Order: sequence, then structure tokens, then C-alpha cells
Amino acid sequence: MADKSVGTQSLAIAGPEKKHEGKKFRIAFIGCGGICQTHMAAFRKMSDVEVVAGVDIVPDRLKHFEKAWGISAVYKDWKKMLKEIKPDGVSVCTPNGVHCDPTVDALNSGAHVICEKPMAMNPAQCEKMIAAAKKNKKKLAVGFQYRYHPNSMYLKRARDNGAFGDIMFVKCLALRRRGIPNWGVFGEKDKQGGGPMIDIGVHCIEMAHDFMGAPKPVAASGNIWTYMGNKPSKVVSPWPGWNYKTYTVEDLAIGQIRFDNGAILQIEASFVAHIDHDYWGFSFMGAKGGGQWDPPGIFTDQNDTMVNITPTYLGSSADFDSLFNIKLRNWVDACTKGTPLCAPGEAGLNVQKMLDGVYRSADAGKEVVIK
Ligand SMILES: NC(=O)c1ccc[n+]([C@@H]2O[C@H](COP(=O)([O-])OP(=O)(O)OC[C@H]3O[C@@H](n4cnc5c(N)ncnc54)[C@H](O)[C@@H]3O)[C@@H](O)[C@H]2O)c1
Repeated sequence: MADKSVGTQSLAIAGPEKKHEGKKFRIAFIGCGGICQTHMAAFRKMSDVEVVAGVDIVPDRLKHFEKAWGISAVYKDWKKMLKEIKPDGVSVCTPNGVHCDPTVDALNSGAHVICEKPMAMNPAQCEKMIAAAKKNKKKLAVGFQYRYHPNSMYLKRARDNGAFGDIMFVKCLALRRRGIPNWGVFGEKDKQGGGPMIDIGVHCIEMAHDFMGAPKPVAASGNIWTYMGNKPSKVVSPWPGWNYKTYTVEDLAIGQIRFDNGAILQIEASFVAHIDHDYWGFSFMGAKGGGQWDPPGIFTDQNDTMVNITPTYLGSSADFDSLFNIKLRNWVDACTKGTPLCAPGEAGLNVQKMLDGVYRSADAGKEVVIK
């Protein structure tokens, strides 16, 4: 059954609550690399927000942060920053292996947190983060943005209106023909927890799981393969020159998740798949209707006739920057006004259990239980 509380509430922009009236919500960054710049651009559009500090271990990243955004409070150590700056909110934009510790420290310092996706390296870390949020009565959001995409919102509206009946099967695809990140540590298993499954598969799983109404995952099976990322390549590609010497993650992962309501989710995720073009999104079959995310469509019966429905207009906020504006606004409003958080830590934990299940199953060579 669809959980109407997940991701369907109004995304209206609202002003700060009483507590913050006249006061800006002061945000600090931990991790000032690529995605921090997208967060910064979004926060700069919010009149009730002030970004007050940045933390990174790479001096050039801090120099860039200071120069590009005019923020002189820069630190190498997040503990020192939290103590001296005492931010109201912290945006954690570090590699996956550095999500849990700064999040827990920030929550314990009295700040709210939005942590980039995936929530952490494993479910145990997610549970620590959620416990710290609960203990300190602070908001913890996970940086999932595809649940706000117009295509996702369209399908969730149709779901809530009963267009699909019970959703039995969902197939997620996060496939790049050639797209191993050639920056950061995305190829290093000990720092990221995995490759395309945890890095891009996570997006499709989170939006599909949200669409399904967030059923409880109970079992997973999966397989992973590495055949290209760990070797030099002369092939002309959009992101050439990744570090093949430190590449220890999978190139392709295939997984299947079973839920307590009997539904099944399948996922294919790859940085380097031999396919005709990149695929991104999910399709599904329900008892009364099916559909797909991209291009958005619903396949059902009407007037004793099989029909395919194509929406005419879904809004204009499908681009990456707009999705970040919406997800960060949702978190700020939840912190300052107490409005519902669309992607709380609990959603991140469920997604992490599925990712972890696929990897555990690939290791074990058999289906594994998800608790
Ligand atoms: N939501 C999305 O669509 C999206 C897109 C891109 C990245 N991400 C996520 O954001 C995170 C960062 O990705 P990125 O592309 O910005 O990577 P990046 O490598 O460009 O930036 C990460 C930054 O963290 C810094 N860092 C590492 N260890 C640190 C520490 N101990 N203390 C302080 N800083 C530290 C690095 O020096 C680097 O500047 C990842 O978890 C990634 O999955 C999310």
C-alpha cells in the first residue's frame, strides 16, 4: 500500500518559524568539493539562510570555497569548526566513508544535518546517525533529490489516486555506457563502500522505493562484476582518465530486493555498460496499471480499451539545480518551521539496507536476509 506521507507533501516555500524569526539559519559545510558548489548555489538563493563556514582537508578546496563564495571561516577539522562556529545546520558533502562521523558530531553539537547520498557506508552507520538525531532532537535529512523530480511527483499523484492498485514489480536502471567518475574517490571501495550500485543505483532505488510507498525490504540477492575500471583504457569517453590503479569497486551490479508485501524491485547499475545509450529511471507493473519514469507514462485500461497515457505538462523543475533547490529548501523549512522532512534518515537507512543486501549477497553467492 502506498504511504502517502512519503514524499508527496506540498513543496511550497515558506518563511522561517518564530524561533528563527528575523534570524538567518546559519549553515556550515563539511566537504567543499564538487557537490558542495551545487548546495552553495541553492543556499545563496535563500534569503533566510546564511552559509557561515566550510571544512575540507584539501587546502585548495578551502581556497576555492573562500574565493568563490566569499566565506573566510574555513577549517581543516570539523570538530574545531563546530565548536567555534556553532552552526544551526550542517551540510555533509564528504565521500561516503566520511558521512557518519561528521553527521554524528554535528548533531551532538546541536546542529541539524543534511547528509549527501548514500547516507553512509552501511546500515549500522545509518542507525548511529538516526540515534544521534533522535537524542539531540534535530532534523537529519539524506540528500535524495529524485523523489522531487516532476516525473516522480506525477507517478506518486497517480499512485495516490489509485491508478496502479498494488504495485508488484519495479525495475530500476542506472546505467552509463562509459562514466567512471574521474575525480574524487569514487573507485575506492574502502572510502565509498562500493561502485555504481551505491553511487548511482542508490538514486533509482530511493525514488522507486519512495514511489512504492516505502515497503519493508526483507531479502536481497545480487551479483557484481569488475572488468574495465581496473585497467587502462584508450577509448574516447566523456570522463576519460579515471584512476584505474586505485579502482577496487564493481563495474556492474545486478540486484533483486524482496519486500514484506510480496513486491519485488530489481536494479541494474553500471558505470561502464555495453549498451546502446545511458538509461536512468524505473518502470513498474501494478495490478490495475503500470508505467515508467522516463519518458513518463502510464499504461492502463480505460473504457474497455488498453491505453497509454502521456502527460502534457509536469512543471519546469526537472533540472539538477532545481531539484537541489527543492531538497535543500525542504530541509531548511523542516529545521526552521517544523514542516515535514521528505527524505529523513529512516528513508536513507531503508535504502542502505537494500544496497548492503545486494553487496552481501554478491559476496555470499546466495540470497541474504535483510533485518
Ligand atoms: N545528490 C547527488 O546527486 C550527488 C551528486 C554528487 C555527489 N554526491 C555525493 O556527495 C558526496 C561528495 O561527492 P563530490 O562529488 O562532491 O566529491 P568530491 O571528491 O568532489 O568532494 C568531496 C570533498 O570532501 C573532502 N573531504 C574528504 N575527507 C574529508 C574530511 N575528513 N574532512 C573534510 N573534508 C573531507 C574532499 O577533500 C573533497 O573536497 C558523495 O557522498 C557523493 O555520493 C551526491
